[in-house]
Amino acid sequence: MRFDSVNYETNGTTALITFDEPDKLNALSTGIRSGFCKALEQARHDDGVRVIVLTGAGGKSFCAGADISGFEFTPTYAKNFIDEVLDILALPEQINKPVIAAVNGYAFGGGFEISIACDFIIASEQAKFSAPEIQLGLLPGFAIARLNKLVGRQQAKYLSMTGVKLSAEEAKDLGLVLKVVPHEQLLAEAFALADELASKPQMAIRYAKSIYNRELGGDDLTYAKDVMPFLFLDDDTKEGVTAFREKRKPVFK
Ligand code: COA
Repeated sequence: MRFDSVNYETNGTTALITFDEPDKLNALSTGIRSGFCKALEQARHDDGVRVIVLTGAGGKSFCAGADISGFEFTPTYAKNFIDEVLDILALPEQINKPVIAAVNGYAFGGGFEISIACDFIIASEQAKFSAPEIQLGLLPGFAIARLNKLVGRQQAKYLSMTGVKLSAEEAKDLGLVLKVVPHEQLLAEAFALADELASKPQMAIRYAKSIYNRELGGDDLTYAKDVMPFLFLDDDTKEGVTAFREKRKPVFK
C-alpha cells in the first residue's frame, strides 16, 4: 500500500512505514508529511498491527528534516508551518502502539526529532544524527522540548546550539539509541524487537507507553509553537536557508 510518498506494508503483527523520497533524502515534503499521517492512522486502526517500524527508503537517509526548498519568510507561512510540523513530529509519541525507528542513515532535523519521538531507536552503523537547524538560523522546536529529559540539559544545549553530527555509537552513548547494528541487519533487528513487544500482553504494553509519555505534548510544545515562527523573520535565517539552497556556507551577521 502507498500513501502519498510513504510506503506501508504489514509483516505479521508489525506495520512497516517507509519514507520514500530518497532523491531528497526523505525530507519532510508535503507527500511525506501527509503519507506519514495516513500510514500511522492505518496502523492505529488495524487491530492486527501491534507494533510500528519506521524507516527511510534508499539506504542513505532516514529523513533529512523539514523540506527547506519550500521555506518562505512570511509570518503566515512560518506560523502555519511550525504548527503543522510540530504536531507531525510528535505523532509517534501519541499513537497507542509502540513505534520503533529503524534509522538507516541521516536522521537530521525533523528526521532526528521523529526518531526521538519513537519509543525505541535501532540504528544502522551508518546512521548519523543531528539537529542542524541552527545552521539555518532556526531551532529544533520539538527536540528542544524533549532533549533535556533524554540526554540532560548540557548535552541538549550542545546538540541544538551547535548542530553537531553524531555517529550511531555516539548517539547510543548518549542514551538516544537502544542498539547499533550492521546496516544489512537493520530491519531484521527492528522486526525482532517488534516481535518481542508483540508477544507481550498488549494492554500492559499500551499502558506502559501511555504512562511513560503521560506528561508529553503539553505547554512546552505550545511555547515552541508561539516563539519559533519569529525565527523565520530573522535576516540570519534568510541567509542560512539561501546558503543551503545555493550550496554554500552561510555568512551570519
Ligand atoms: N530539504 C530539502 N531538500 C533536501 C534536504 C532538506 N531538508 N536535505 C537534503 N535535500 C536535498 C539536497 O538539496 C539535494 O538535492 P539536489 O540533488 O537537488 O541538489 C539532495 O537532497 C541530496 O542532498 P545533499 O546535501 O547533496 O546530500 P549530502 O549527502 O551531501 O548531505 C545532509 C546530506 C543531510 C548532510 C544535507 O543534505 C543536509 O544538511 N540537509 C539539510 C538538513 C537540515 O538542515 N534539516 C533541517 C531542516 S529545518
